[in-house]
Amino acid sequence: MKITVVGAGYVGLVTGACLAEMGNHVVCLDVDPRKIEMLQRGEIPIHEPGLDKVVQRNAAAGRLSFTTDMQAAVAHGTLQFIGVGTPPDEDGSADLQYVLAAARNIGRHMTDYKVIVDKSTVPVGTADKVRAAVADELKTRGVDLAFAVVSNPEFLKEGAAVDDFMRPDRVVVGSDDERATLLMRAVYAPFMRNKDKLQVMDVRSAEFTKYAANAMLATRISFMNELSRLAERVGADIEAVRRGIGADPRIGTHFLYAGTGYGGSCFPKDVKALVRTGREYGVELQVLQSVEDANERQKSVLVDKVKARFGADLTGRTFAIWGLAFKPNTDDMREAPSRVIIDALLEAGAKVQAYDPVATEEAQRVLAGREGLTFATGQQAALEGADALLIVTEWMEFRNPDFDGIKAALKQPVIFDGRNLYDPALVRSFGLDYLSIGRPSVS
Ligand code: NAD
Ligand code: UGA
Repeated sequence: MKITVVGAGYVGLVTGACLAEMGNHVVCLDVDPRKIEMLQRGEIPIHEPGLDKVVQRNAAAGRLSFTTDMQAAVAHGTLQFIGVGTPPDEDGSADLQYVLAAARNIGRHMTDYKVIVDKSTVPVGTADKVRAAVADELKTRGVDLAFAVVSNPEFLKEGAAVDDFMRPDRVVVGSDDERATLLMRAVYAPFMRNKDKLQVMDVRSAEFTKYAANAMLATRISFMNELSRLAERVGADIEAVRRGIGADPRIGTHFLYAGTGYGGSCFPKDVKALVRTGREYGVELQVLQSVEDANERQKSVLVDKVKARFGADLTGRTFAIWGLAFKPNTDDMREAPSRVIIDALLEAGAKVQAYDPVATEEAQRVLAGREGLTFATGQQAALEGADALLIVTEWMEFRNPDFDGIKAALKQPVIFDGRNLYDPALVRSFGLDYLSIGRPSVS
């Protein structure tokens, strides 16, 4: 099948590459010439495990190409996937300007039947706006062409994006057009050969499903983060509690990890956008507003522990930070809790020596100009001359560290662990104090 993907970011690039892997001929369009030039050279602009191989293999086979040429890109695909960004507006609602610009562009250049697929996360009712934008362009041109707009939200996680796309739990298609539904079934059939996981529903329900999924996952995290604060007070261990409740299949084990608050490009913006949609329609989403408030508070939990130990004025102190990306296996720094933690430490007068296995370059970009912040090239280098260590992202390489080396390097032998990576008794046995999330501290 001939497919165009508009937007070559995390979602667009993964979608394009994985669809090409199944034999489709895919053109990825982006307005960022730097990104497209990199991709044309076989370089991947983001860190996403396994993506380079899929992109390079399919580009070499002639099934995947990259362009900034809008007319050529629109001419190529019968299916036009829109995977551009939907960042939050000042009021929290999703900014649809990129989606609607992409839609207009399709309307401006199309010369035959197109299925326009909304893959970006967009509020209920957006498909109608996309349809109107395309129709408006066609009217301006004075042409009458058939097209359909379907909703096909994406559920992949960064760091596991290729795997998630290749082996989806489900594929949601919102469509009220038979021909478009048939084509969408055909596109996704190779990804679900053993079991049909395609759910066809009306367009509005599909759009809503995406927000409902992210909101539910964010709710679980905020719920556990709140319980972790209480666990500390009452002398319980949130990790034991997590295992205890997760064994109930009605609750399940996923997304119950207390930490430094959820970050990333989606949970924070999607929770805000759903709350905003609620307000627009006169429905106060109280639970979700609290999920957002609890998450904001959670980002300061680690710094509160630092201040409880060292005092509110951290002048003259230096802290090592391990982990900057909003989660492991990505270089994405969007809404990363590390940004809030670093700013709070600097604000209190401290210096910060930060290390991340892959996100350093991106962190240098987003945290540019912060006085007192330096970046180390390795775990041990970050520790040298520091008073204490803060662990913010649970990269695999932090899981079994050289505790003797940590103790020798730190002026005060203390670890503040925002991800509960270690057995407190083990850390203590190395002579280190250990403060984690929702567990009794050991010293
Ligand atoms: P991104 O910022 O990584 O990529 C968006 C790309 O679109 C950029 O490269 C940008 O240059 C390009 N673009 C903007 N306007 C364009 C236009 N008119 N024509 C062509 N290209 C254009 O964004 P992302 O993280 O891939 O997210 C895209 C959408 O997918 C969002 O709605 C997001 O909520 C949703 N989503 C993201 C993830 C994720 O893990 N990142 C997962 C599921 C859904
Ligand atoms: C999330 C969803 O998991 C995807 O299904 C969805 O497609 C995507 O958002 C999206 O809409 O963009 P992602 O943001 O890539 O994916 O990463 P997650 O693994 O969900 O982590 C999000 C944040 O929650 C991270 O900061 C992570 O550290 C935090 N988290 C996650 C916890 O604090 N505890 C957990 O138990 C799980």
